[in-house]
Amino acid sequence: APPEAARMARGQALAQEDRCVICHGADLSGGQQVPRIAHQREEYLALTLQEFRSGKRPGYTQAMGEAVGRMAPEDLDTLAYYVARLPTAPPKPGGK
Ligand code: HEC
Repeated sequence: APPEAARMARGQALAQEDRCVICHGADLSGGQQVPRIAHQREEYLALTLQEFRSGKRPGYTQAMGEAVGRMAPEDLDTLAYYVARLPTAPPKPGGK
């Protein structure tokens, strides 16, 4: 099914407001010690965000715990939906 426009717009707004783009990059492809998150599986993104929030998944640093610690669980699911479907080309094998 094509992505739901309203949910995609909300996810994009959250990625800006909650500063995901500052560390993970405007296209969410990461860089240096920050991982690519664009186009990872929605189920994985949703799970790992909830676990950073609850503290079940420890990070190498406090960055992610601080980024999502005060976010509503449903907003994390919206972010996972958006990030998994980001409207840019997925990475090529072996390339960035
Ligand atoms: C201050 C920098 C910073 C901000 C802001 C930030 N992240 Fe991260 N994020 C990281 C770093 C660094 C890692 C990897 C290291 C770790 O696990 O601690 C990471 C890991 C992740 C992972 C796990 C990726 C994987 O492959 O397992 C996801 C998903 C993620 N971030 C999503 C987000 C989202 C969504 C936001 C916005 C709400 C966000 N991040 C905001 C720095 C940041």
